[in-house]
Amino acid sequence: MSVDVLLGLQWGDEGKGKIVDVLTPEYSVVARFQGGPNAGHTLEFEGIKHVLHTIPSGIFRKETMNIVGNGVVIDPVTLKKEIDALLKMNVEVNKLLFISRKAHVIIPTHRLLDAASEASKGKEKIGSTLRGIGPTYMDKTGRNGLRVGDIEAADFMERYSRLRNKHIELLNHMEFDYSLDELEGPFFEAIEEMRKLNFVDSEYLINTQIRAHRSILAEGAQGSLLDIDFGSYPFVTSSNTITAGACTGLGIAPGKIGKVFGIFKAYCTRVGSGPFPTELHDATGEAIRQAGREFGATTGRPRRCGWLDLPALKYTIMINGVTDLIMTKPDVLSGFDTIQVCTQYKIDGKVIDYMPFDVVNAKIDPVYTPLKGWKKDLTGITKEEDFPAELKSYIQFLESELNVPVSIVSVGPDRVQTIRRELNYKTETVLH
Ligand code: GDP
Ligand code: IMO
Ligand code: MG
Repeated sequence: MSVDVLLGLQWGDEGKGKIVDVLTPEYSVVARFQGGPNAGHTLEFEGIKHVLHTIPSGIFRKETMNIVGNGVVIDPVTLKKEIDALLKMNVEVNKLLFISRKAHVIIPTHRLLDAASEASKGKEKIGSTLRGIGPTYMDKTGRNGLRVGDIEAADFMERYSRLRNKHIELLNHMEFDYSLDELEGPFFEAIEEMRKLNFVDSEYLINTQIRAHRSILAEGAQGSLLDIDFGSYPFVTSSNTITAGACTGLGIAPGKIGKVFGIFKAYCTRVGSGPFPTELHDATGEAIRQAGREFGATTGRPRRCGWLDLPALKYTIMINGVTDLIMTKPDVLSGFDTIQVCTQYKIDGKVIDYMPFDVVNAKIDPVYTPLKGWKKDLTGITKEEDFPAELKSYIQFLESELNVPVSIVSVGPDRVQTIRRELNYKTETVLH
């Protein structure tokens, strides 16, 4: 059996958590492959709204195995809070959740280093979630990191102290006030809680599931435009958020990848710093922010809003090998007379439809195609026939531009506000 992947095609917050939760009944296993508590994945069902940071979004379905893969970085304190909240909701976390021994651990000084590094950058700051993500991945690639499996080692405290002391030396050079004691107490409490969880060699576990013909969904975090290699560097996160990240972050061979669900909002948002060619600094941007409740699920920061960007989407569809598109939040655009879609970029008078190298410094003017908006409230719609004609045209326009079918449209935050489209043509990998 192959592994399907669901990941964000923009700058994160596309609605991955909601759609993974919707698709989970079709899968035996849901696995996170990268990122960490910088993610905030929101699920809504039966009047409950829940945000997950580290735990896969399949956790609310009783029969599904949820794996946190080796590519993820785990903050024991955040994980403990997530688990406590789930236990209160009678979720059998200890039965359903499996953690890779090779996943790296975020220790308190990683968070301090993240904060110190951002503070030292001043206006150039990345707008990190300050969850310690960058420093933890730096220690991973720098070959200094602490892994979940180390918690089981007799000399865990020595391994921990070695890394912490290294960080303290760095912090001493950084003019940054901190108090480590108040962070270490909750950290060690959380480490003790973690010992109760199922630590596994997740690459073996997943490949055994594949051989047993059990279906697996890999859940991405962040979005492709935040990818460390292909995002708007340096305004990116520190992991590979793209399909390839599922291979390295879970130990799956590339040939085992099946469908790739690429999820995008009907417009764009970005939280944190960095280029955003279609950003709206006007009343329209504010209207989208309010209608879409565009405030971060992890940090509460207002998200920057703008029109849909097709050169960026074409790029991320190409990099990921997207086979199925999923569009979320068109309901937020109800009421606009005209909806703009960026189809090309103009740089120094030259019109292009690809992602330029220097996306950070280039002065990009988006070239827009205006499309007619729809007035109807979409949130109660349950079948595609009831979509307003203008929304049908919007989707058709996107499919013809992007050359990949939109197989799911989400019209609200709740599980039930999800419409599977009857596709007129077979879903197959489209080569770009
Ligand atoms: P994720 O990080 O990709 O899982 O997305 P977030 O949870 O950070 O942000 C998506 C937000 O949009 C959440 O508040 C969701 O509840 C909400 N949402 C998801 N799909 C839809 C939709 O189709 N319409 C509306 N109005 N809200 C949605
Ligand atoms: P989900 O999974 C949106 C952004 C931060 C910052 C940059 C680097 O919920 O879609 P980091 O803390 O990773 O060093 O921050 O990446 N960022 C996200 N933006 N959604 C996310 O996750 C994000 N995770 C990180 O705002 O600009
Ligand atoms: Mg989010």
